[in-house]
Amino acid sequence: MKHILLTGGAGFIGSNYLNHILNERDDYFIVNLDKLTYAGNLENLKGIENNKNYRFVKGDICNRELVDYIFQKYSIKYVINFAAESHVDRSILGSEIFYQTNVIGTNVLLETARRYNVEKFLQVSTDEVYGSLGAEGLFTENTPLSPNSPYSSSKAAADMMVNAFYHTYGMPVVTTRCSNNYGPLQFPEKLIPLMTINAMHDKKLPVYGDGLNVRDWIYVIDHNKAINLVFEKGRTGEVYNIGASREMKNIDIVKLLLKAVGKDESLIEYVKDRPGHDRRYAIDSSKIQTELGWKPEFEFEQAIENTINWYKQNRNWWERIISGEYVKYYNNLYMNR
Ligand code: NAD
Ligand code: TYD
Repeated sequence: MKHILLTGGAGFIGSNYLNHILNERDDYFIVNLDKLTYAGNLENLKGIENNKNYRFVKGDICNRELVDYIFQKYSIKYVINFAAESHVDRSILGSEIFYQTNVIGTNVLLETARRYNVEKFLQVSTDEVYGSLGAEGLFTENTPLSPNSPYSSSKAAADMMVNAFYHTYGMPVVTTRCSNNYGPLQFPEKLIPLMTINAMHDKKLPVYGDGLNVRDWIYVIDHNKAINLVFEKGRTGEVYNIGASREMKNIDIVKLLLKAVGKDESLIEYVKDRPGHDRRYAIDSSKIQTELGWKPEFEFEQAIENTINWYKQNRNWWERIISGEYVKYYNNLYMNR
């Protein structure tokens, strides 16, 4: 039995991972440590909450005593660190919590993992640490880190710390860097759920700048399968890029979503650009493909339709979210754009 501390499992990617993996593997015992910030939602985990190989602990990865207690109590030998403040716009509104959770929190996990001689520490990172691309080229694992937002700089700091623990202490670490995810259970502050839900409500769709920024999209299940493969077979000290080679301009995604929801393009509203807005992300994932045999399984057209249908069929899930604290955030961010 592998005793795993998984952090941030009540968020978008972590909850998709848990829902999938606990049905697949009976040799994983997983403790999910999550602070339940605005982005954490235990409703995401209803299907597995009574699984005998699963425990939930509400708490902060920055809490040294609590993290130590969990390692001891559950004989933790593996860590998968999903927990983070994850939204670029929020990091622009206020950066401190990003450095607190993403940098200090990762340090607490690494230090504790070192004391308990973990067998693997997987850091879930992002392609945003590489910065922004021009019209050509792809991010490889050798692209220098050049983060531009408070969010991406905090993730890059964590990545460098993970690497330092490998070089200095020989800690068995591995890092994944994935492109933009979409799928069920994504918090509606991110592009795809935000635009889908606004369209359903006949609300304006706020496109930043000229709408020509490019993101490289991957279905969350493909990302999570890659994470698991790296967790099982990734070489210690290595970084693996994850992406599905599906570059899209923001405006094209927005138009596609409008069509799927049956609304017309008059809902599009170009608004003031995001400060420091990265122009283009695009991932070269040939390393994980050739070394570990991973490849994306989901076609974009099918997976985006699944995602939109999920939001159509799960109004309760997001209506509760957008009627709460989120209203203040939304009005604050979009009011003066
Ligand atoms: P999310 O914001 O949906 O979820 C984050 C989770 O972490 C939440 O459940 C939250 O409660 C928890 N959390 C936050 N601070 C915490 C703390 N101090 N202690 C314990 N738990 C805390 O994020 P996500 O989209 O699921 O992203 C998960 C990870 O994947 C992040 O590390 C992110 O940087 C990375 N990532 C995300 C994407 C993407 O497109 N969403 C792409 C690449 C990498
Ligand atoms: P987002 O989902 O916030 O992901 P990230 O910034 O981490 O890539 O945004 C994806 C793209 O969509 C990004 O170029 C910013 C743009 N965007 C808008 O144009 N309008 C919006 O309201 C949001 C949230 C994002």
